[in-house]
Amino acid sequence: MNAPVVLQVATTPASPTLVLRPWRMEDVPALVEVSRDPALRQWASSVVDNDADGARWVQAQQRGWAEGSRFGFAVLEAQPGSVCEQLVGNVVLKEVISGKPAAEVGYWTAAHARGRGVAPRALEALTSWAFDTFEGDGLESLELLHQVDNLASCRVAQKSRYDFDSILPAAPPSFPRDGHLHVRRTGA
Ligand SMILES: CC(C)(COP(=O)(O)OP(=O)(O)OC[C@H]1O[C@@H](n2cnc3c(N)ncnc32)[C@H](O)[C@@H]1OP(=O)(O)O)[C@@H](O)C(=O)NCCC(=O)NCCS
Repeated sequence: MNAPVVLQVATTPASPTLVLRPWRMEDVPALVEVSRDPALRQWASSVVDNDADGARWVQAQQRGWAEGSRFGFAVLEAQPGSVCEQLVGNVVLKEVISGKPAAEVGYWTAAHARGRGVAPRALEALTSWAFDTFEGDGLESLELLHQVDNLASCRVAQKSRYDFDSILPAAPPSFPRDGHLHVRRTGA
């Protein structure tokens, strides 16, 4: 992939246009700011406390793009009356291996932007892009994992047509409780 991938999600009555593009170093201050949120720290797998953590995290996303294994997108929202866009979330396609039929998706939404459908809209764009881009390479399904008590994430899965598949047993310390596996298959 040579040119950076940029995906657009059309405006809705509740939300302006979303732009999904690979993470950049200029996103670090906004990433550090949104990472103060306790829910994000609880449910997202990495913790960003300061600019150095943020820079390492963005560099890890950039390595993923370069290696072709992990594709993290910053989700930005157009601001009425401003040319600047605001960081509202993250969606990621991960565990991409050539010839492997399944990969995984992940997401979070900044606390100030929750409850407006940002995650399902961004996930739909990521899902379409993933199948369009990797179907020829053997990708048949996308997996979405969340802990059972993360009800907001379960709702995102349901709304995004990732069907419930099975219960995943707890795996402490990273996953102290059981999880849900949801799956969306190509063409679904
Ligand atoms: C899960 C998460 C990504 C949902 O993002 P979102 O953009 O708010 O998604 P939605 O607007 O579709 O809301 C999903 C559900 O969140 C709940 N919700 C609604 N408003 C909310 C708010 N202001 N704050 C928190 N949760 C809210 C509702 O249960 C909603 O379901 P509903 O539409 O059936 O009412 C977001 O809550 C988040 O980032 N949580 C922390 C990180 C995380 O859990 N990531 C997923 C790990 S598996």
